[in-house]
Amino acid sequence: MCGIVGYIGDAQAVPILLESLKMLEYRGYDSAGVTVFNGKLETYKIAGRIKDLEAVIPWNMQGSTGIGHTRWATHGKPETRNAHPHLSSDVSVVHNGIIENYMELKERLIGLDYEFKSDTDTEVIAHLLHFNMKCRGQKCLLDGLAETVKELKGSYAIAALCAEEPGLLAFARKDSPLVIGVGKGSNYAASDVTAFLKHTKEVIYINDNEIGLLKPDSIEIFDLEGKQVSRNAEIIEWDLEAAEKAGYEHFMLKEIHEQPTSIQNTFAGKLSELEGTVTLEELYLKPDEIKRLKRATIIACGTSWNAGILGKYIFEKLAGLHTDVETASEFRYSNPVLCGEELTIAITQSGETADTLAAVRSSSSYGCRSIAITNVVGSTITREADSVLYTRAGPEIGVAATKTFTAQLVALYMLAIYLGRIRGVVSANEAKDLIVGIKRLPGQIQKVLNRKDAINECAVQFADKRDYFFIGRYLNYPVALEGALKLKEISYIHAEGYAAGELKHGPLALITDETPVVAIATRGHTYEKILSNIKEVKARNATVIAVADDDDTEIDKYVDVVLRVPSSHELLAPVLSSVVLQLLSYYTALAKDCSIDKPRNLAKSVTVE
Ligand code: AGP
Repeated sequence: MCGIVGYIGDAQAVPILLESLKMLEYRGYDSAGVTVFNGKLETYKIAGRIKDLEAVIPWNMQGSTGIGHTRWATHGKPETRNAHPHLSSDVSVVHNGIIENYMELKERLIGLDYEFKSDTDTEVIAHLLHFNMKCRGQKCLLDGLAETVKELKGSYAIAALCAEEPGLLAFARKDSPLVIGVGKGSNYAASDVTAFLKHTKEVIYINDNEIGLLKPDSIEIFDLEGKQVSRNAEIIEWDLEAAEKAGYEHFMLKEIHEQPTSIQNTFAGKLSELEGTVTLEELYLKPDEIKRLKRATIIACGTSWNAGILGKYIFEKLAGLHTDVETASEFRYSNPVLCGEELTIAITQSGETADTLAAVRSSSSYGCRSIAITNVVGSTITREADSVLYTRAGPEIGVAATKTFTAQLVALYMLAIYLGRIRGVVSANEAKDLIVGIKRLPGQIQKVLNRKDAINECAVQFADKRDYFFIGRYLNYPVALEGALKLKEISYIHAEGYAAGELKHGPLALITDETPVVAIATRGHTYEKILSNIKEVKARNATVIAVADDDDTEIDKYVDVVLRVPSSHELLAPVLSSVVLQLLSYYTALAKDCSIDKPRNLAKSVTVE
């Protein structure tokens, strides 16, 4: 999983490419490189971050056409020789994705006297492109690239330059994101619009199995049979400021603080508390189909999967719909028993997670209808699913998902009420209560944010611990899972999220006076049960940090620290508790001086298997 960029125009390419790569660093940041046309192709690359690359490029480097790459290693260690661009004589290539048949191609190319300098799969693309252009009579870059991608198995977004065709930048896409930025006298190609948003808001999304050419003043797109594709540009509605830190020390903190707005945007225009209805015009499911549904399968990874667990509980409660939650990477290689009458719900912030996309394709092959819940307009999942329910959280740059998680929860509540009303499971009055509760969430989140000093104090107190447990029951179980994921991801503290009732079946053996236990104990029908679980861990000398309602004074008797949330509808409390746990992780990581926005070994968007 990597970020690619390309620029062709009348300005100096290096500063534009470096700036764009910095915006894409969230996609990977273990090595980086650029090629710029400067009478010939000049390439600089390095194992390290974009700022390290900046230091090795001559300050006066000229050239107004170039490509660049920020890498997250899949094939070959993060070393300079494995960094992109990869070269073959006068051809230079950057690639995001995985070439599955690269070993077979590599052997063939070695037999044709091509010398490999890296361990990557990408280098075969460069040599194959060179071979197709020079030895197979494909005279131009575009034809050469078309011939090349026909031989590739796997996923790719490619940008390529050839020294013999200096006024051209070629691109191709299959199963990895690629978007073109339409400028004036200049054009851009990138894995994500944030790369060039500073220069243009006009974009064209490239589809799978399309290739094309950028010139400073034109964009041509073709299918693999060489037929020209015509596609209008779309306008991006958010601006670069939204993708920058706005004065916060980290993107993660900024994104945590954006939650009152991101949630408001997600439900805006969809809720009527007077009628107790949710309007989801974007869903192409007919009421009859909804009534006939027997089962739903939620497919997701990571944080989105944690949201899916909450989805299961509320679909079953509010819509009477049996729901399974599947880890996408497992689902795609299992033997799901599907008859085509199930509803698939894919949850993916980025809309580009390779495992989730593959799992949705697999469920579609059984004839299942699908809904995607995603934050990224135009992402690949939006073209795979039958219907798309957008979370309107705005761009999330921090690797740790925060505002997109709570927006996913809100999307799931809305979907559950919508399905439940049509299926006659949730009454108008129950729906009204929930809708009123959802509308109160932005203000209640703001109250939680205003208490961040108390959360910071707690985080600092336990930042030196090696292990943490997070426990919760029913809807607070996914909150515990997500709290643990956040903590381990950004603070590198080992953390386990557990259904509190499961502790006594094994994990209790790990509880000592050195293990803080975070108990999510907001009021609800399992409240008494979690109090018992708290007593179990207290009896093993654990320090207990409870997340509890404002008006709950009983909890103080049993725990060491209480982090409060405003009292809310039982089903909605997970949104508020999650914000507390996001801040707890953030301040713990801050106390440990961790790389919060770009944790080690992780990347924002996991576009490889
Ligand atoms: C969470 O903080 C992580 N960034 C990660 O678990 C993420 O949720 C997962 O990779 C799935 O991503 P998606 O929602 O974009 O599909």
